[in-house]
Amino acid sequence: MAELDQSRLPASDPHSGVVPILDFGSQTAQLIARRVREAGVYAVLVHPSISADALRAMHPKGIILSGGPSSVYDEGAPTMDAGVLRLGVPVLGICYGMQIACRHLGATVERAADREFGRASLTVHDRRGLFHAVPAQSTVWMSHGDQISGLAGAGLEATASTATCPYAAVRSADGLFHGVQFHPEVTHTPHGSDMIRNFLYEICGCSGGWRMAGFAEHQAKKIRERVGDSRVVCGLSGGVDSSVAAALIHRAVGDRLTCVFVDNGLLRKNERDLVEATFRDHFRIDLRVIDASAAFLRDLEGVEDPQEKRRRIGHRFIEVFKRAASDLPDARFLAQGTLYPDVIESGHGHAGHSANIKLHHNVGGLPEELGFELIEPLRDLFKDEVRNLGEVLGVPGQIVWRHPFPGPGLAVRVLGAVTPERLAVLRDCDEILLEEIIAAELYRKTSQVFAVLLPIRSVGVMGDGRTYENVVAVRAVESQDFMTADWARIPFDVLARISNRIINEVRGVNRVVYDISSKPPSTIEWE
Ligand code: XMP
Repeated sequence: MAELDQSRLPASDPHSGVVPILDFGSQTAQLIARRVREAGVYAVLVHPSISADALRAMHPKGIILSGGPSSVYDEGAPTMDAGVLRLGVPVLGICYGMQIACRHLGATVERAADREFGRASLTVHDRRGLFHAVPAQSTVWMSHGDQISGLAGAGLEATASTATCPYAAVRSADGLFHGVQFHPEVTHTPHGSDMIRNFLYEICGCSGGWRMAGFAEHQAKKIRERVGDSRVVCGLSGGVDSSVAAALIHRAVGDRLTCVFVDNGLLRKNERDLVEATFRDHFRIDLRVIDASAAFLRDLEGVEDPQEKRRRIGHRFIEVFKRAASDLPDARFLAQGTLYPDVIESGHGHAGHSANIKLHHNVGGLPEELGFELIEPLRDLFKDEVRNLGEVLGVPGQIVWRHPFPGPGLAVRVLGAVTPERLAVLRDCDEILLEEIIAAELYRKTSQVFAVLLPIRSVGVMGDGRTYENVVAVRAVESQDFMTADWARIPFDVLARISNRIINEVRGVNRVVYDISSKPPSTIEWE
């Protein structure tokens, strides 16, 4: 969780106001921040034990108390400075945040025997303020154990209820405190965003207008101050995250940034050229391209097991990167494009994957081994916010909007043993596939599209002769977060064009199949 960090206050317009969110450990605290930012107001997560004085110094327009997994009765449950409720600033308490604040205000919280979890029907009694323009009856998402059982003497009134929760929403008599037992930040509460907007605009009087440009400017200033005269190394993969991180750090420290791009021989066609054109020619960044493809391919000789491929690629990558970094004696900082989902996804995902995702995305182990200090300027951002930031920084659309590409690259898309010949076949198929997807204007509508070279051969007939050649699978998925995914309904005529072109133009392929599996139970990659 981000500690209180004054650097996160907006730089361009200090009067636009910030909304700190006291994070009591909820899975959805970042989601609250995201909803607030989507509404045009800058939000920052702070430690729940932050003092009222420290909060006052931030000049907040409003304060949000997040939910959390604890019961207010648990030993060691997070506490808060009750002075936060007396700052004269509107406060919105969500779930645990509501309960802890209501207890401070004198209400009773009942310890629950069971958790209430799922959708509930909310009846709004007062359609002003938080519920402005929200229907009198609507669905909300509940996930709580304890709940408020009495308001006597607390100066609070109920503004909404559900069948099992008489105090589903409360408001203080002075209108400064609002509490909701349900979760307005999740999409299962269809009017939740309206409620958050109401809190920001109707109750806090925010002026809105927070823009990514302000974030970029301010982060760049902070990075500049931190880096001083030292050098920053950034491992560039060509993906959205490391590219945007590099562009931001370049804006901050200019030629004191060195980017290292490792050509592992497992890249898509023209990938290295694109990275060179973007970063060396367009941004004029000191880019070191290291061609280590021979070493990577040697490591992979005869290896069929996917996890073993990942392990070898990971080790080689660290070794190559270490050697490159040791050529830069004044480098003190290592920049990484870690995103918020990278932070929460560790520990999720199917066995073995998340460790590898970490290894590659985040160059695991390097900072400790080389004594680098880490710079992770995207750590609090979601993917769409990073794309937005990339556009603000002038990163070309071709990079900002690209689909994710796994660290082990085409090695996990050439199923079975990886050879230069099989990689070349796959590269040609992949190029045609992407050309057709872009031509059909489907690239931005899909989340990930790629070709997979299967470890089998099939019989075909070409001209008068029999062929016995490779089979290529086309994979296209739609996904919000890549934890779950559905196969994309690519129109048949587009699939037909892809198949025709691949079979006619790529020597050694006589069959194309389309993957119609969803995740779960399948995964997005085949290996
Ligand atoms: P799966 O196949 O697990 O993929 O459904 C989910 C997302 O993660 C990517 N992926 C990887 N990325 N190193 C990476 O950097 C890996 O080893 C790796 N394996 C899968 C995959 O492309 C998809 O976007």
